[in-house]
Amino acid sequence: MKLETLLANIVHYCDVPDDKGSSHIPIYNTATFDLKRQQGNEKIYDYSRSDNPTRNAVETIFSKAESGAGCTCTNTGVSALALLFDATLRAGDSVLVEKDCYGGTYRLLSVLKEKNNIQTRYVDFLNLDEVEQIITQGDFKLILCESPTNPGMKILDLAAIAALAKKYGILFAVDNSLATFASQKPLSFGADFSVFSTTKFVSGHGSVTAGALVSKDPSMVKKIKYLSNAEGRAQSPFDAFLVSLGLPTLPYRMRIQEQSALKIAMFLKTHPAVVQVKFPGLPDHPQYELAKRQMLIIPAVLTLNLVSKAKAEQLIRNTNLFGEKASFGTSDSRMEIPSKMSHASFSEADLAEIGLTKSTVRISVGLEDTLDLIDDITNALT
Ligand SMILES: Cc1ncc(COP(=O)(O)O)c(C=O)c1O
Repeated sequence: MKLETLLANIVHYCDVPDDKGSSHIPIYNTATFDLKRQQGNEKIYDYSRSDNPTRNAVETIFSKAESGAGCTCTNTGVSALALLFDATLRAGDSVLVEKDCYGGTYRLLSVLKEKNNIQTRYVDFLNLDEVEQIITQGDFKLILCESPTNPGMKILDLAAIAALAKKYGILFAVDNSLATFASQKPLSFGADFSVFSTTKFVSGHGSVTAGALVSKDPSMVKKIKYLSNAEGRAQSPFDAFLVSLGLPTLPYRMRIQEQSALKIAMFLKTHPAVVQVKFPGLPDHPQYELAKRQMLIIPAVLTLNLVSKAKAEQLIRNTNLFGEKASFGTSDSRMEIPSKMSHASFSEADLAEIGLTKSTVRISVGLEDTLDLIDDITNALT
């Protein structure tokens, strides 16, 4: 079945208990369930922190969409990452992470270093020979990367990284927040986990913070579910419902946003105030061919380097259609200076290492008319 068909009628494919034929997943907004009234039912619910029919329904859809063995939905994307680390690492373990990563991942790993002596080695996964050398010199339990990376918009070869991870017996997780399962399925390239923030494209309307962790191994699914309950990371039924509302339109939104982002990227490339545009849909992007092979849709996020910090600030300040907001993938367009918002927790040295400066702006292209957005940018930079 095509993804579009699964997502268009999710209530049909998610095993939600419903004998009324609801046309969308019902919200079970309840903390507890009466065991006596569920006698004879195949699945028994008792407490919403551990299981809830609305959240379970969304988990079933994500697991199918990512071709996994199961999924756990969490109250935000960062808690899905925290669950991943809890499920795969013990105190003192080492993890290999792509250096161009979300600032919240970097912050979480700093906390885990402080608390549990988890050692993170940040590397450039474009250079797999160097990565392999580093692997042979250490004892790494987990590899984590994003592709596209946020905010550098690098495309990493997921199949090659999965093969390397397998060769050395290391678990491999892909943060799929940007591409989403509408564009790429990490498990199909050999990854063990797909972890993603559903705050972004997946829910699509900026109405909720939420996350998900899909695993290909049933015993890992069980472990993650146990930990989610033990640590209280579960997504609320109402949040699961809000996420579900974005699903039927996800591939369609992403395709329209991709077309708009490509036009905006091409326009920005010719603008005198712009030094560099990083968008994997541009034919001169260094990993353009890989991007086309690995993703069905290029997510509508682009990163620019402007001629100066003043120009970057002018762009943000003077646009009317782009809020100065963190996050991406929503119906509204937005901009941010990553070093000030999403990546503010990076050290100065690590910001420099990934080429992020105060004149770097990240743009998330929404569903507004493309020419209106280009006019707005033109006026803002005049
Ligand atoms: C790539 C990536 N992963 C994870 C997260 C964390 O998600 P959330 O903000 O839903 O906690 C973000 C947030 O921006 C992100 O960009």
